[in-house]
Amino acid sequence: MAEIIDGKKISEAIKDEVKAENEILLEKGFKGTLAVVLVGDDPASSVYVKNKKKACEYVGFESLSYEKPSSMTEDELLFLIDELNNDENIDGILVQLPLPPHIDEDKVIAAISPIKDVDGFHVQSVGAMVVGTDGFLPCTPAGIIELLKRYDIKIDGKNCVVVGRSNIVGKPAAILMLRENATVTITHSHTKNLKDICSDADILIVGVGKRHFINSEYVKEGAVVIDVGIHRDENNKLSGDVDFEDVKNKASYITPVPGGVGPMTIAMLMKNCLLSLKRRVGEV
Ligand code: GUN
Repeated sequence: MAEIIDGKKISEAIKDEVKAENEILLEKGFKGTLAVVLVGDDPASSVYVKNKKKACEYVGFESLSYEKPSSMTEDELLFLIDELNNDENIDGILVQLPLPPHIDEDKVIAAISPIKDVDGFHVQSVGAMVVGTDGFLPCTPAGIIELLKRYDIKIDGKNCVVVGRSNIVGKPAAILMLRENATVTITHSHTKNLKDICSDADILIVGVGKRHFINSEYVKEGAVVIDVGIHRDENNKLSGDVDFEDVKNKASYITPVPGGVGPMTIAMLMKNCLLSLKRRVGEV
């Protein structure tokens, strides 16, 4: 039976570390502020946004909420982002994705100032991540690396297979694993022999958005399995892209859903907000 990677516990430890560092900045009179923009009423997005605001409160940042109807136009959103970019009291800007279909996500992400891009989605942030210079790392993939490190799981020299190539998870997770000296294979819906490739992975990272897509036939004995998927069934039960019950007896470590990668996204967001504040006040 695999050791279950407790993302909830690690995320709480990280938030406590951020809170402790932030207290010192608060004593010096510096208060971090995150602007959170939500367009429309997607129920999952509303929950994520609520949790992000709650985390801000916990660590001692101010969160400014901009909850807009789905009728908001692209121009109106771009105008709002411009205002937030120019507000010197704001350290981070987060526009919750997905946006309604009439709004071009790429255009919106491009409008966010890279110095406030605490999601790490701007092309400048992505470029900095690829070459390894200063920027903001995307929260979910950075959270995966943090989980592996805090469980003392060696990455250097390991075979890592990433299933999925989204801009938010698959591509950046592959780059960050490469930066840690893993040998990385990115797979996707056109990949041939997926089962064979996955079965060769020491570390398997799955973000495909398909419930229980990966079962034990895809997993090498003793592999580390990281599940980024999240699905809610008709009984409101959450599950991931990995068939946890089937895979847990074959893997050496596995992340559960819920309580694995999910809470790490918010913890890493808090870390990015702290970094942005520290940069603004000249503490890094
Ligand atoms: N939608 C799903 N994940 C994320 C995330 O990490 N940040 C934002 N802004 N939107 C998301």
